[in-house]
Amino acid sequence: MIIAIDGPAAAGKGTLARRLAGHFNLAFLDTGRLYRAVGYAILQAGNDPNDPEIAVAAARALDPENVVAGDLYTEQVAETASVVAAIADVRKELLTFQRNFAYHPPGGKNGAVLDGRDIASVVCPDATHKFFVTASAKVRARRRFKELQENGVESTYAAVLADIEQRDQRDRTRKVSPLKSVDARVIDTSGKTPDAVFEEALAHIEGEQSK
Ligand code: C5P
Repeated sequence: MIIAIDGPAAAGKGTLARRLAGHFNLAFLDTGRLYRAVGYAILQAGNDPNDPEIAVAAARALDPENVVAGDLYTEQVAETASVVAAIADVRKELLTFQRNFAYHPPGGKNGAVLDGRDIASVVCPDATHKFFVTASAKVRARRRFKELQENGVESTYAAVLADIEQRDQRDRTRKVSPLKSVDARVIDTSGKTPDAVFEEALAHIEGEQSK
């Protein structure tokens, strides 16, 4: 079983992916982490993420099995990830690992859940179940802002909203593997609890299984 979950930033993809992975005994891969790790390495080296040669070299140097580098969950790393993710050869470097994870999941699991932007469209077009998880930009910014506050990171709601809108815009309009809903069950998580989202996804999967 392969479950593909795509959607914009902070829509609740990761939360749903982990729940489904636990429920069905599947391996879980947060593919955004790979792009973040590439962005992080470039920032650490003080290099320019817009330079394709530098970005591709950083992607090639990444060991996807051991993405342990520092704090990947800052807005600066997210922004840099989205810049390098628009470069076709960077995506190519990361594709084999993602496909291999999906089709040969580690740890004797029954399959895999992958979350990202292009899982249903590029990485696993033949995934067993496909979801597009979304929410309004305001809802997503509110959630992300709350998370930052809880972690003691200084920021403003307006700045978080602007970051999210800019990143969505870049992810949706890039030429290679743009964020889009392909053949997927759309779940809008605005105003829904994680439990409600999980139940909705589960009901959809069970419905497809009984067909
Ligand atoms: O999912 P997350 O917010 O961690 O992803 C960071 C960035 O990595 C995204 O904004 C996007 O540009 C890129 N990404 C991608 N394709 C994926 C996963 C992430 O382009 N499958």
